[in-house]
Amino acid sequence: MGRSTAPLHGGDLRRAAALYGPREFIDFSANINLLGPPPQVWQVLTENLQDVVHYPDPHLEGLKADLASFLKVDPSCILPGNGGAELIYLLPRLEGVRQVRIPIPTFSEYAEAAKASKVPIRYCLDLDHLQQGDMLFLCNPNNPTGKLRSKDQILQLAQQAEERGAWLVVDEAFIDFTPEGRKASVAPQVQDFERLIVLYSLTKLFAIPGLRLGCLVASPALIAASRQLQPPWSVNCLAELAGRAALGDESFRERTRKATAEEREFLYQGLLAQKGLRPYPSAANFIFVAIADPNWTGTTLTDALGRRGILVRNCANFQGLESDRHIRVAVRTRQENERLLRELADLLGGTR
Ligand SMILES: Cc1ncc(COP(=O)(O)O)c(C=O)c1O
Repeated sequence: MGRSTAPLHGGDLRRAAALYGPREFIDFSANINLLGPPPQVWQVLTENLQDVVHYPDPHLEGLKADLASFLKVDPSCILPGNGGAELIYLLPRLEGVRQVRIPIPTFSEYAEAAKASKVPIRYCLDLDHLQQGDMLFLCNPNNPTGKLRSKDQILQLAQQAEERGAWLVVDEAFIDFTPEGRKASVAPQVQDFERLIVLYSLTKLFAIPGLRLGCLVASPALIAASRQLQPPWSVNCLAELAGRAALGDESFRERTRKATAEEREFLYQGLLAQKGLRPYPSAANFIFVAIADPNWTGTTLTDALGRRGILVRNCANFQGLESDRHIRVAVRTRQENERLLRELADLLGGTR
């Protein structure tokens, strides 16, 4: 199915306006930091707009150095890109990749990237049985379920991948929202495993999805091979400045973790109390919800909320969730979370 007809992702406000009529939506369908961008991001953007008349720095040494100290690796282990999405598309094209393995349900772009590179895909439920030439994509914490795997489990898999001549790609786009924060990351371990690749996105944590910024973290050899597949000037000058301004702000990350934890618990409890909904515990800044009420599907509930100006992610087009019985909602501010819970209670017939 083409991209124009099926919503592959949340956050598509134009499509929502076309479907439900133009208005101010509250967007629970994209998982962006509830605090918004740190203030210094606005400042560097407004002060440096005139830079867009020049080409961006093709080497990005300063950004690489900042990312390297943030992720606790050497700068030679970093490749910045135009959001995590661009970098996902480079990986199946690496020499020697014979098959992409994807535990489901998970983020759809791993499969789209494999299709674009004409690499066969094997969807799986377990993580064992890696074979030579396999590239396993593991989203941690997982989108859409919010499940966080332990660092030990990931490193055991990395070891297995190493021994079998496979690659392990760990997508840590949402790791900073987890209670453990950066302690849950395996990025520093790319220095111990030649076939471990960590994908990092700055668009969620710093709330800049429209600006685009992410990076690959891997052995210098894998970084050099990936760099050859990347078009020049992937990272624009404003994204570079925004990233550099935000990365050093540890207090912003601390505030993010705290606010996310508080609101995640509030929203989870509120969803648990709704008649006909079964939320899953989550370590991320979103919650996966099963619909137990037989009168509703993911599609009908998403549409009913959309008509009330509230966007949630219908999960029916995630591979493995075609039963149309799940939605995913972002953790947002208290006021917005309360509004979602009120609308849900009104539609589903109240709370238990
Ligand atoms: C798990 C996961 N990884 C990567 C991305 C890509 O993020 P970006 O391209 O905005 O950095 C997303 C976006 O939704 C995501 O959910």
